[in-house]
Amino acid sequence: MKPISVGLLGIGTVGGGTFNVLKRNEEEITRRAGRPIRITAVADKNLELARQVTGGGVRITDDAFSVVSDPEIDIVIELIGGYGVARELVMKAIENGKHVVTANKALLAVHGNEIFAAAQARGVMVAFEAAVAGGIPIIKALREGLSANRIEWIAGIINGTTNFILSEMRDKGLPFAEVLKEAQALGYAEADPTFDIEGVDAAHKATIMSAIAFGIPMQFNAAHIEGITKLDSVDITYAEQLGYRIKLLGIAKMRDAGIELRVHPTLIPAKRLIANVEGAMNAVMVQCDAVGSTLYYGKGAGAEPTGSAVIADLVDVTRLHTADPEHRVPHLAFQPDQVRDLRVLPIDEVITSYYLRMRVDDKPGVLADITRILADSDISIEAMIQREAAAGEAQTDIIMLTHETVEKNANVAIAKIEALSVVNGPVVRLRMESLQ
Ligand code: HSE
Repeated sequence: MKPISVGLLGIGTVGGGTFNVLKRNEEEITRRAGRPIRITAVADKNLELARQVTGGGVRITDDAFSVVSDPEIDIVIELIGGYGVARELVMKAIENGKHVVTANKALLAVHGNEIFAAAQARGVMVAFEAAVAGGIPIIKALREGLSANRIEWIAGIINGTTNFILSEMRDKGLPFAEVLKEAQALGYAEADPTFDIEGVDAAHKATIMSAIAFGIPMQFNAAHIEGITKLDSVDITYAEQLGYRIKLLGIAKMRDAGIELRVHPTLIPAKRLIANVEGAMNAVMVQCDAVGSTLYYGKGAGAEPTGSAVIADLVDVTRLHTADPEHRVPHLAFQPDQVRDLRVLPIDEVITSYYLRMRVDDKPGVLADITRILADSDISIEAMIQREAAAGEAQTDIIMLTHETVEKNANVAIAKIEALSVVNGPVVRLRMESLQ
């Protein structure tokens, strides 16, 4: 049978992995897809690299627009990244009737609504398994495997760079800045790691998962995003003493009033499986009404793991492209006319529990003042540590874990605690999830 013809835009790490796995496993992939899948054109600014990786057997160009306009190409793989030229190329490919496979989470989280609407109107597929958690088939699970369920929440370690940094901070007791340098030297973190360490990359991925889990549009601009740059390793140590680990979680949760969509460092019980996901690995926990709790674990980045997800999409598109568009799996899991306009809740309305650390004068009545403020805000204390003041010191740390409360209540209580003359400096506050 005539091979399906693929144009690859960008032959960097993931592009190279995709090319190599497709070649190595050609026979098995063809048996699955029903016909051979051939990369026939590659666009990259680095023509020499493209020649080296492909061995020269395909058309190589530095003009990506010539690939998306090539009448011989059936599927375009976009691995350029970012929202600039990648957006133009994806929109052009759709306009030209090509199916698109992309790993570009930033593009989909920010411009996905426009892209999927255009694809729907043109009757083409835009597949994006590689955009979330690299090689883990989480899009397939959310969109198809769990389609019987009401999805209640998703909590994911979806950024390997930050998980590596947090693991190292915990293992070695080192400060953030030092571990970041190590991560860069090892090639985990980019030279400009801003999107990773500030939580933006995780928020892109959480936004995409929220859309397909709840049947809502992409609402990246409404996500609450906090990274790990301000995290102090002393809080990792205290959390550990209380039986918790700190992870950068991407959380999407269905509430009666709307959706919680947030990324922040989060205390989770050390006994949960997901708390033990270390290094650059990713994991996503999905809580559903029928199946209960499920957990997906694997490599969230890298040449062949991400290439694996890209090729799975190529196989899907190859199998389905002759089906009527209305008989294919909907892009965002729900039929396009069934997407609901549920709002993302402002962070003030989020319900969660807290870890609070405060530096206090070590004298009578301090604890009583603090607990009175929490009681007045209807916040119940779940656990507490007070450290013995070091010899010669008149101050000590108090660490409290609270039960769940609405964030705006916690803000009021924290402001009152900070205003006490016996409390020194700001209260460190981290959110906590039991993941039960
Ligand atoms: N930069 C991402 C991470 C991988 O550190 O997990 C690509 O999504």
